[in-house]
Amino acid sequence: MDWMFAERTTSARRSVIRELLKLTERPEIISFAGGLPDPQTFPREFLAKVAADEILNNSAKSLQYTTTEGKLPLREPLSRWFAQDGMNFPPDQIVVTSAAQQGLDLVAKVFLNPGDAVFVALPTYIGAIQAFQAFQATLVGVPMEDDGMDLGALRAAVRSTRKAGHTPKLVYVVPDFQNPSGHTWSRGKRLELLEIAREEDLLVVEDMPYRWLRFVGEPIPPVAALDKEGRTILLFTFSKIFAPGLRLGALAGPKQVVEKVVTLKQATDLCTSSLNQRLAIRFLQEYDVAGHIQFIADLYRKKCSAMLEALARHMPAEERIRWTKPEGGLFLWVELPQGINTEKMLYRAIEHKVAYVIGAPFFVDGSGHNTLRLSFSSASCQDIEEGIRRLGQVVREELAALPAPQGTGNKG
Ligand SMILES: Cc1ncc(COP(=O)(O)O)c(C=O)c1O
Repeated sequence: MDWMFAERTTSARRSVIRELLKLTERPEIISFAGGLPDPQTFPREFLAKVAADEILNNSAKSLQYTTTEGKLPLREPLSRWFAQDGMNFPPDQIVVTSAAQQGLDLVAKVFLNPGDAVFVALPTYIGAIQAFQAFQATLVGVPMEDDGMDLGALRAAVRSTRKAGHTPKLVYVVPDFQNPSGHTWSRGKRLELLEIAREEDLLVVEDMPYRWLRFVGEPIPPVAALDKEGRTILLFTFSKIFAPGLRLGALAGPKQVVEKVVTLKQATDLCTSSLNQRLAIRFLQEYDVAGHIQFIADLYRKKCSAMLEALARHMPAEERIRWTKPEGGLFLWVELPQGINTEKMLYRAIEHKVAYVIGAPFFVDGSGHNTLRLSFSSASCQDIEEGIRRLGQVVREELAALPAPQGTGNKG
């Protein structure tokens, strides 16, 4: 049967990771694969209490449709919260979304014609790749450095993309504890990014799901706070500080952008869940949100330290083996010598009962086969120690199976 699918479905890739995750779900496997928050961070009792109250005593608001832009009593505290971080978005410049992923989809829907260029880091968040690909974007990868994108490479990529006939539209960034690499952008790079955006007339999409989960060092102002021109679209989510299953977040940006987003969101889902918005309103009003975030950050600090210590103990001492030391978030990123393919290595890892996420799908240029992502959020500290010991053994076996480096063939 000829299904006559739309052209955009041919450019949309199924997530390889989702397929591989199925292999890692056996209970005897210690998995650092899924990027999920630790369920002990969900405020279950509070949620149960306020959900019952909202359903029984406030159903005209909690079970009814609401406006597409979202409830004002939610947008108002969000606006104040963003302001504490230097970001100036009044409530009429904020749309409540079904978490950050819907924000990505709506940004793509509002801005992208087929072939338009979106600049993303190498590596970048896969859900963003999928959202932009669904609108037939031309995705251009820009190498990452320890303190953010290589901005010289970004400048060159914008120019060559324009020459090749594509319209450069968006730069997508996750400046705080990026998924997947754990990297954080310096203040200098955030400012320079805005300069490039101004020179090249680009919009910056700043995705910040992990911003509030800093466990080391001082916060760096968001790009949206440094932006004096209104070129930044901010994606916020409750997923990592409240509960991802509620699917709740927000998009904030210039007024004209927000108006378009609201119009197109109407066609998508009319509104974001009223009940879940009421739960978030109550969370912000009644819960010790600052204490809760501190609790989550403390938990991940402990787990991240356990993983870093275990890596130092168990990974072969080899300068071609490197990993990031994140200051927050859920992930760290490992680079192995060229020639090791982490997708093939995953089968060996599963035999050793440990799992990770392969790195290549996070790269839009087809590279990254020697990389992998480790999530420290879900496993216990004991499992982290044992899992990294197993991973060290797997890497050792892979290294032993590598042909000896000869001449200039191996770039290391
Ligand atoms: C960088 C980034 N953006 C967006 C999302 C989507 O999160 P949500 O839709 O739950 O807000 C994630 C999820 O892990 C992420 O890592």
